[in-house]
Amino acid sequence: MDYHTGVIPYGRQALDEDDIAAVVEVLRSDYLTTGPTVPAFEAGLAAATGARHAVALNSGTSALHAMYVAAGLVAGDEIVTSPLTFAATANAALYVGASVRFVDVEPDTGNLDPHGVAEALGERTKLIVPVDFAGHPADYDALRAVAERHAVRLVADGAHSLGARYRGRRVGTLADATEVSFHPVKPITTAEGGAVLTADRGIAREAALFRSHGITKEPADLLHPDEGGWWNEQHVLGFNYRLTDVQAALGLSQLAKLDRFIARRQAIAAAYDEALADLDAIELPGRRPDVEPGWHLYVIRTREPAERRPLFDRLRGAGLGVQVHYLPVYWHPYYEQLGYRRGMCPNAERYYQCAISLPIYPRMTDAEVARSIDVVRDAVTRGT
Ligand SMILES: Cc1ncc(COP(=O)(O)O)c(C=O)c1O
Repeated sequence: MDYHTGVIPYGRQALDEDDIAAVVEVLRSDYLTTGPTVPAFEAGLAAATGARHAVALNSGTSALHAMYVAAGLVAGDEIVTSPLTFAATANAALYVGASVRFVDVEPDTGNLDPHGVAEALGERTKLIVPVDFAGHPADYDALRAVAERHAVRLVADGAHSLGARYRGRRVGTLADATEVSFHPVKPITTAEGGAVLTADRGIAREAALFRSHGITKEPADLLHPDEGGWWNEQHVLGFNYRLTDVQAALGLSQLAKLDRFIARRQAIAAAYDEALADLDAIELPGRRPDVEPGWHLYVIRTREPAERRPLFDRLRGAGLGVQVHYLPVYWHPYYEQLGYRRGMCPNAERYYQCAISLPIYPRMTDAEVARSIDVVRDAVTRGT
C-alpha cells in the first residue's frame, strides 16, 4: 500500500535495510562506477539464470538496443515482434534504422504466436523478438523451430520474466540472448537498469563494447597492444549505457531474494485465481501447463471492450492502483505516423481493450490481497 494515499499500487519495489546497507557500502568505496560490483552483479545474474554471460546496462531499453546490435541487427533489417509490449521493444530496432513487423499474439497468454511469426518472416527479417508478457514465457520451442528453419536469430524481451521457467528451463537460457529490466516494478530492481543474458560469447562481447562507447582496453582485443598502460581503442560506435556500481550493489542484494519474490508473486496469483474464478464477467490470465510464470503482472480481462473502462474506473475509485498493459505499440501516434494502422493484430487489440492489471508485488500483504479481492469482486458484481 502507498501509505500516503491508501492506494494499493499495481506494482512496487521491495527494499530492505540490507539493500540500503549494500548501496551505502559502495557509496563509501573507491568506485561509484566501472568498479568491481558491476562484474560481481553480472556473475550473480549468470549464476541465478544459468546464462553463461550477463552484461549489465543502465536500463532495459539500452539492453534491448545493445542486444539487437550485438545480434547483428543493422539499418534496413527487420525484426518481428509482438505489439502487446512496452514501446521500447520496437523503439530499440528503430534506433538502428531497422523496421518492425508486428505479429499478432495468442489470445490466452498475450504472447507472440509462433504460427503468425512463421508466416510473417521475410527477406529482411533478422531477429524474432518474443516478449514474455506479464512474466509468462513465450512458446520458445515453437519459436526456436521457426527461427532455425529460416536461419534468423531468436532474442527475447524478458523485461517481465526474470525468474520464470519454461519446460523447466530458466529465462535467460531460452533464446540466443535475453534482455531483462530492473525498473522498480520488475522482478528485482536497480532503480533503472537492465542486462543482456546469453550463452553466446560474441553477443556478450559486442554488448559490453556497445555499452561503453565501443572502447576496449582488453589486451587481447587491442590492435596496438604495445603502446602503454594508458592505451585503449574505440572499435565500434557505442554509447555510455553503463550501470553504476551503486546500482549494481542494489541489484546484487536484490538478486539474493529473487526466488522469494517470485514465490510471493505466485502465491498472490494463486489467491486471485481461486477467489475470482467464479466471476463470469471477467477472464483470468491464461497460463500454459508447462510454464512457471514470474507473475510480473496479473491481468484480468472483461468479456467486452466496452466493459473495461467502467470497471477500471470503479477499481481506481475504490483505491486500487490498477493499470492497463499495453496499448498496442502501433496505436501510438508516433507509429501511426510511420504508416502502421489499427486492425493489424486483432488479438492484441482485443487483449488491450479488455485488460486491467491488478496489484501484485512481493511486499503485498495478505490483508492487501484480501482487500484487492474484495474490491474486484464488488466492482465486477456491481457492473453486471
Ligand atoms: C516489455 C518491456 N520491454 C522493455 C522495457 C524497458 O525497460 P526499462 O524501463 O528498464 O528501460 C520495459 C519496461 O518498462 C518493458 O515492460
